Amino acid sequence: DLSVSWLGQTLPGCLYNASGVMCREEGELEAVRASAAGAVVTKSCTLQPREGNPEPRYFRTVIGSINSMGLPNRGFAYYLDYARRYDYRCGKPLFLSLSGLMLDDNCAMLRGLAVEGLPAIPEINLSCPNVPGKPQLGYDFAATAEALDAFDAAYSGLYGVKLPPYFDTAHFAAMAEILNRHSRLAFVTCINSIGNGLVVDIDSEAVVIKPKGGLGGLGGDYVLPTALANVREFYRLLPGKDIVGCGGVSSGREAFMHILAGARAVQVGTCLHREGVGAFARIAAELTELMRAKGYRSLDDFRGRLRTL
Ligand code: DHB
Repeated sequence: DLSVSWLGQTLPGCLYNASGVMCREEGELEAVRASAAGAVVTKSCTLQPREGNPEPRYFRTVIGSINSMGLPNRGFAYYLDYARRYDYRCGKPLFLSLSGLMLDDNCAMLRGLAVEGLPAIPEINLSCPNVPGKPQLGYDFAATAEALDAFDAAYSGLYGVKLPPYFDTAHFAAMAEILNRHSRLAFVTCINSIGNGLVVDIDSEAVVIKPKGGLGGLGGDYVLPTALANVREFYRLLPGKDIVGCGGVSSGREAFMHILAGARAVQVGTCLHREGVGAFARIAAELTELMRAKGYRSLDDFRGRLRTL
């Protein structure tokens, strides 16, 4: 049984798409909703529609992916309209990923969502690495603190944030201290891609994507241990908040690792891009079988129970 109680409801499954994959168009979003996914998240949006960066901007490697999409999206109004028409009775929560180009844009989108009074839940993206000239907000602790204060003022419901990966225990502690000041921050999604990696093709002696001289966000197997460390540390440091695991999930085994580290739900990005929405039923079946072999009947039986030596 992979059902999970979260945000006051019972999701039929713990797996869903990572923002950015299968979520820019309504047809893709509906395909995720119709699959074995337990929730749906939209493509990170800006106030105005964007074309994004020049192509090629996504590249698949043997063990992962690199992307510099540059926030191509249909604009906030498109996803808000989808949220108006979404069938919430399906039991799968809808998350709206917001990634304004500046703080006021994020606040305007939050106010726009608030006036609708919809059950859709914002996942505010503090970690897009791919807009030239725009640093990742989550790496600026003072700016993140200011942003969260502004989100609290703009929006009176529960919300979440998508964080970049951190690599230093002092950074985990400093970010957790900021996040813990905000009681309506209900969840954090760890992690966004490892930003500004570089994949090199030996034959052509060239980079593989066009934007930013080839730099892009890494996903897939490259990021699993980093993702698990971020899930684990924020699970320990943010009592009373939920952690959504994201990074390197391509089978039931990695999903199990994320939940053991503390994740309440688990997102699938690179693998979903590669395989399509059938990935959810496959990974769910693998996780169910692994739990059966271990004698676990629900996710509550092992969530966060990672052993240390
Ligand atoms: C994009 C990439 C991200 O990692 C993100 O969080 C938001 C947007 C992009 O390039 O479109």
